[in-house]
Amino acid sequence: MVADLQTVAGSRLNPLLSGVAAPPIAEAQGWVRGRTFPLDKPLIDLAQAVPGYPPPDALVEHLARRLADPAVHRYTDILGHTRLREALAAHMSAAYAGTIGADQVAITAGCNQAFCLAIMALAQAGDEVILPLPYYFNHRMWLDALGVAAVPLTFRPESGGVPDLDEAASRITGRTRTIVLVTPNNPTGAIYPPEAIEGFYRLAQRHGIALILDETYKDFRPGDEPAHQLFQDPDWPETLIQLYSFSKVFCLTGYRVGSLIAGRRVMESVEKAMDCIAICAPAIGQEAALFGLSELDDWRRGNTALMGERVQAFRTGFERVEGFRLISLGAYFAYVQHPFPDRTAAAVARDLAEQHNLLTLPGSMFGEGQERFLRLAFANVPAGTVPAIVERLSTAAGTGGRKT
Ligand SMILES: Cc1ncc(COP(=O)(O)O)c(C=O)c1O
Repeated sequence: MVADLQTVAGSRLNPLLSGVAAPPIAEAQGWVRGRTFPLDKPLIDLAQAVPGYPPPDALVEHLARRLADPAVHRYTDILGHTRLREALAAHMSAAYAGTIGADQVAITAGCNQAFCLAIMALAQAGDEVILPLPYYFNHRMWLDALGVAAVPLTFRPESGGVPDLDEAASRITGRTRTIVLVTPNNPTGAIYPPEAIEGFYRLAQRHGIALILDETYKDFRPGDEPAHQLFQDPDWPETLIQLYSFSKVFCLTGYRVGSLIAGRRVMESVEKAMDCIAICAPAIGQEAALFGLSELDDWRRGNTALMGERVQAFRTGFERVEGFRLISLGAYFAYVQHPFPDRTAAAVARDLAEQHNLLTLPGSMFGEGQERFLRLAFANVPAGTVPAIVERLSTAAGTGGRKT
C-alpha cells in the first residue's frame, strides 16, 4: 500500500527536479557520518568551502544590539535594504574602479540564490547556457532543474584552468542565453587574468547574450588590483551580471546573504522572482553584511593574508606529496590529480575518507571528464595541517589508495 502511494506520488513529481544530481556535500559527509576518529589521526575535513574561523566579536556584538530594533525582525524591501545596496554599490565601484549604482544592486539570500535568480531572468526550458568544466555543481543542478541545457567547455589544466575563448565562441547558438564564469574558481582555485575575463565579456557583448560572473571568492585574491575592468565600460549593464557572496568574506554562511549586480531589465525580472521565492533576503543577514562592509575592512584583509598563507603552505607541501599532483591552486581550493588511472574519483575520495580520515570531493561532482581529480577546500583547516595532509596522501599513494 505504501509502495502504491509512493508510485502515485512519484508519477506526479517534476521529472526535471527529481532527475537533478543529489546534493554533493551531503553525500560526502555521509562517508564519515557517525564515525569517531582517533586523537592521533583526527578527521581532516577538506570537503566544504567554509571558513574554519568564526566572524569577529565586533560583528556578533553589533548584531546582538541590533536585535532590539523591531525593524530588524521585519521584511526589508524586495531587493534589500537601501543602505546595504548603497554600501555594496560603493564597495564594488571602488574595488573595480567602475560605476555601479545602488539601483543596480539586489541583495539575495546567498550567492546560490543570486545564480538561480539570474538564470530565471535569462533562460527558459530548452535554452542553453555555456558552463565551463569543471563547474560549480549547484550551477549545473539549477540548470538541470529548469530544463536549461548546460553546454560544457573543455577543462584546460595546461592553461591554468582558464577556458578557451574560441571554443566558447564555437558553442554559441541561437539558444545561448549566457556564459557563466567563476573566478576565483570553484573547484580549481584558478584566478582568471583580467584579459581572459574581458575576452569572454566582449564575446558575450558581440552576441547580445549575458556574461554571469560569480565572484564569491573575490576577497581571497592576492593584491589590490581590480580583478577585471568590466565595470569601467559604461555599457556593462547590457551584458554583465555579477554575483557575490557575503558567506565566506565575513563568515556568514548560515545567514544567507549575497548579491546580484545587473542592469535594469534583468533587475526587473529578478525582483519579481525574488518576491515570489523569498520576499527578501534575511534582514539579520543584511545587517551583518552592512556591518562587514562598513567596519571590517582590516579584518577582511587579515583573512585574505591568512588564506594566502594556506595557498603557500599547499604549494610547498605538495612538492613532497608522492603520487598526487597539484593541478591548480588559489583562493579556497586545490585541484589535485590522483595517481590511480583505473579508479573513479569517487572511489579514491571514499577510500581517503574511510582509510585515511581525509575528506575531499571527487572531481566527478564537478562534471564530465573529472575522474582523475579531487577538490581540496582548505578554508576550513589551518596551514599547520598541511604536513598531515601531505603524509596521508603519500601513504594513500603508496598503498594504492585501497583498503589496507
Ligand atoms: C562559486 C560559488 N558560488 C556560490 C556559492 C554559494 O554561496 P552562498 O553561501 O552565498 O550561497 C558558493 C559556495 O560554495 C560557490 O563556491
